[in-house]
Amino acid sequence: MDAVLPAAEAATAVAAYLRRHETKDLLRFITCGSVDDGKSSLIGRLLHDTRLLFDDQLAALEADSRRHGTQGSDIDFALLVDGLAAEREQGITIDVAYRFFGTEKRKFIVADCPGHEQYTRNMATGASTAELAVVLVDARKGLLTQTRRHSYIVSLLGIRHVLLAVNKMDLVGYDQIVFDEIVAGYAALAEQLGIPHVTAIPVSALKGDNVLARSTHMPWYGGETLLEHLENVRIGRAAPAALNGPAGLRLPVQWVCRPDQDFRGFAGTLAAGEAVPGMEVAVLPSGRRSRIARIVTADGDLAHATTGQAVTVTLADALDVSRGDVIASAADPAEVADQFAAHVLWMGDQPLLPGRPYWLKLGTRTVGAQVTDIKHKVDVNTQDPLAAKHLDLNEVGVCNLYLDQPIAFEKYADNRALGGFILIDRQSNATVGAGTLDFALRRAANIHWQHLEVDKAARARIKGQLPRCVWFTGLSGAGKSTIANLVEKRLLAMGLHTYLLDGDNVRHGLNKDLGFTDEDRVENIRRVAEVAKLMVDSGLIVLVSFISPFRAERRMARELFEEGEFLEVFVDTPLDVAEQRDAKGLYAKARAGQIRNFTGIDSPYEAPEQPDLVLDTVGDSPEALADLLVSRLA
Ligand code: ADX
Repeated sequence: MDAVLPAAEAATAVAAYLRRHETKDLLRFITCGSVDDGKSSLIGRLLHDTRLLFDDQLAALEADSRRHGTQGSDIDFALLVDGLAAEREQGITIDVAYRFFGTEKRKFIVADCPGHEQYTRNMATGASTAELAVVLVDARKGLLTQTRRHSYIVSLLGIRHVLLAVNKMDLVGYDQIVFDEIVAGYAALAEQLGIPHVTAIPVSALKGDNVLARSTHMPWYGGETLLEHLENVRIGRAAPAALNGPAGLRLPVQWVCRPDQDFRGFAGTLAAGEAVPGMEVAVLPSGRRSRIARIVTADGDLAHATTGQAVTVTLADALDVSRGDVIASAADPAEVADQFAAHVLWMGDQPLLPGRPYWLKLGTRTVGAQVTDIKHKVDVNTQDPLAAKHLDLNEVGVCNLYLDQPIAFEKYADNRALGGFILIDRQSNATVGAGTLDFALRRAANIHWQHLEVDKAARARIKGQLPRCVWFTGLSGAGKSTIANLVEKRLLAMGLHTYLLDGDNVRHGLNKDLGFTDEDRVENIRRVAEVAKLMVDSGLIVLVSFISPFRAERRMARELFEEGEFLEVFVDTPLDVAEQRDAKGLYAKARAGQIRNFTGIDSPYEAPEQPDLVLDTVGDSPEALADLLVSRLA
């Protein structure tokens, strides 16, 4: 019975609802369970039997009006808006339906996330702002891997209250023994996961037992009904002691408003602490200091703002502040770092590979990120650490993260807004991971960039050349090394200083520990790209001849260099031609199954989309192609 109202009417209804419920406490919760656990009947019953206030579209409408700053006082809606906006900005739909309902005691936002295995992503999105999780278990089936996985994510994302709804009690004859066994099993799991508060309730979502009304079929159960528990549960929301008072201000800047020359305001939602005009603040990560001049809202200036409020502040000094910065109290600023230990929940169809570049979005800031190391993955059934070289869909790993810029952060355990992040694929823009920052790695603070007085320009000058990285990519046997070799001979003859990094050769030394799995190829390219960068820094013209089959790593290589310094050359030889030539006899072996993961056979090659130069080896001789490239370089 989703009520769909015309927009204007809906807006009025929303406003009226908010006014009516303004003073009422709000509980945000998530429902999780497997496909057939009865989640939709439960939510349907809750919404239907309490009162459906408005559906998703109205919620989105409400979100939009918040976003445009009409009213900015309800903290929970502001948080919700952030989530929705983030999804919209990335152009992806995370299939989470936020539903609103209320009783006389409380109002509720429930994030309903589809329960299929591949939708862990949805669950994590819903869980990241929830305070309680309703974990549904089918009484006939007991605890499933899915229950364990979801509970693990619930604990990972800092939800401390679980309502264990043992559903379909009608189908097990309302048997107390069945219920008690499941409760005992879950208690052990909760203990293992460190979930402190678990309340178990035997229900039948379909028949309504113990959902709103007490069941007459289970006299042995004397506890609350599901709705009573949702209404009565007390969630400790106190901020950590250190963050109390104006000292703990954390304001991630969402956007900079500059309606005219004289006004420069920084808008965002207080992630922690309080703000008052006159207090000294530090803008992170730069650390520059100023004082809050005004706290501006649509309803006039405030003398005080607190956690969760959406505000615009102005500063006493004209500091350079941009979206993604965090305005923090100067007395107690957040930490700033670029290397972390973190938990990562992987949600991508392609595996997470260490060394591959992703975007990381934390708060309002987006930076480049790499997982440098997977310490281990976690067996969601036993919580045991397992060795891992990559993370597959739905796997959780403990990882080291490296960011290309320092960010202001807080441990997730202390502050969800500044400690929780998502990872975004750089090609598809899809959210492929969610994670929590555990702590900053000390080495980040202890290693500084050493300034050297002789620089790249000076080194290049005495060689009389412009340093370059010429990157050859193409299939094995495409002719990369043949052409690169001819090019180097020509450059040398012109009196230029060069070096040729060849895949086969580098794999005999620096990279002799690497094979041909995807993760080893990523590391192979990462290393050689870093070496090429050092060589370019030394003033050389570097030729890199590696298959380099993945776009992501070629792009990473390009980004290590300055504009115009990097030239991607696609040695374009079709697979059948390379296979026919088969100079090293490797294709024959690969076809015979004697070599695994062979590029083009059972390992992919992603052709460049926008190479700087394409060399067609079918139409032209290697000599002609080498000349073409040299003339292009000149
Ligand atoms: S890359 O994919 O990681 O860039 P790289 O250029 O270093 O590969 O090495 C490729 C060379 O290794 C090929 O030219 C070939 O001689 C040899 N080789 C051996 N096994 C394989 C394989 N499974 N796939 C591709 N090349 C292989």
